[in-house]
Amino acid sequence: MDIRQRFVDVFGGEPATVVRAPGRVNLIGEHTDYNDGYVLPIAIDRSVLVAAAPRDDRRVVLFALDFGESVEFSLDDIEHDQARTWSNYQRGVAYFLEERGIELPGLNAVVVGDVPIGSGLSSSAAVEVSMAYTWQVLAGFRLSRVELALLCQRAENEFVGMNCGIMDQFVSALGQRDHALLIDCRSLEYQPVPLPPPLAPPKPALSKVEGLGGTGGAAVVVADTMKRRGLLDSEYNTRRRECEEGVRILQRYLPQVQALRDVSVAQFEAQSSNLKVQKVRQRCRHVIHENERVLKGVAALRAGDLDTFGQLMNQSHVSLRDDYQVSCAELDIMVEAAWKVDGVYGSRMTGAGFGGCTVSLVAEGAIEDFRAQLAAAYEEATGIVPQIYVCRAEDGVSKL
Ligand code: GLA
Repeated sequence: MDIRQRFVDVFGGEPATVVRAPGRVNLIGEHTDYNDGYVLPIAIDRSVLVAAAPRDDRRVVLFALDFGESVEFSLDDIEHDQARTWSNYQRGVAYFLEERGIELPGLNAVVVGDVPIGSGLSSSAAVEVSMAYTWQVLAGFRLSRVELALLCQRAENEFVGMNCGIMDQFVSALGQRDHALLIDCRSLEYQPVPLPPPLAPPKPALSKVEGLGGTGGAAVVVADTMKRRGLLDSEYNTRRRECEEGVRILQRYLPQVQALRDVSVAQFEAQSSNLKVQKVRQRCRHVIHENERVLKGVAALRAGDLDTFGQLMNQSHVSLRDDYQVSCAELDIMVEAAWKVDGVYGSRMTGAGFGGCTVSLVAEGAIEDFRAQLAAAYEEATGIVPQIYVCRAEDGVSKL
């Protein structure tokens, strides 16, 4: 699709800029970001595109090609839109840019995306980051990419009303091609971690028993259960509260603890009997072990040890399913089917949960078998045809 041409069709002139912001898939580190912990996402080759041109007035006209709908509002009076809720992401970004004292020009924009909505690949962060960056290109204000990500998170928390952490906006803004990003969600420091080369020749004899070797090529494969997330906002906020409750109790015994990030696995094991409410204990156990898995996973990736990385992914899924309780039947079926395919290092649910996608690390030579076997097993169990894509790690937001 030629978005420039679509802009011309809708608005009658050329766009001044075209911006792309990617969705993301998280390799490991789930529900750790709002606990000041570690995450390891990649920005993916599915994205939201914005073609835009400034206007002389303070009006914003957005045309969403995916919905075939347009919205118009004034920057002097940015209100929540109950009818066209998709526009609240852009409205929220405009609201908080203006609130920072940045005077924005009005604009005409066409928006289109291929990040599936509600599938756990962060289409909303891609919308926010693409819009914030479009305004930055048009208005030329100075904000670092980290500041841009924080502003987009604020738009989602305070304007849209979803109390998400920083991971999605951060990696959409700062992702790096062929790398995952290890993000410390407290300090917001980050390090690119190289992914195994996707095009290395396949290993001749792949066998689960011998292990997969780990130095060959591997691909990140996303499988969409097609189950759209239900209950997400309320359950997400409940998990956040349970974690905070855990922190309050652990602080009695470990006064230096500010967030679950500060509790080591050994400290947790020693104190867990003080967490009398089972759910709170389980939530804490997940987050504390998950933070450790991220750091171990990064060390394994750097050492080319994909077997270990895959095992950590599998453990992450079990912990999200049993302790954090954010999986669902469809995600479990997809993950368990993936575990059975030869050539799979590891597989887990990704994103907030309650539907959406799984992520698997698959040996290069096994990808086609993986696709076929996974699709067949999932369809047989659920009657639903899944979508399966090999993802490439891409750069964060950019001007095309
Ligand atoms: C959603 C949120 C993120 C993060 C994940 C779970 O994607 O937007 O901030 O909390 O869930 O890891």
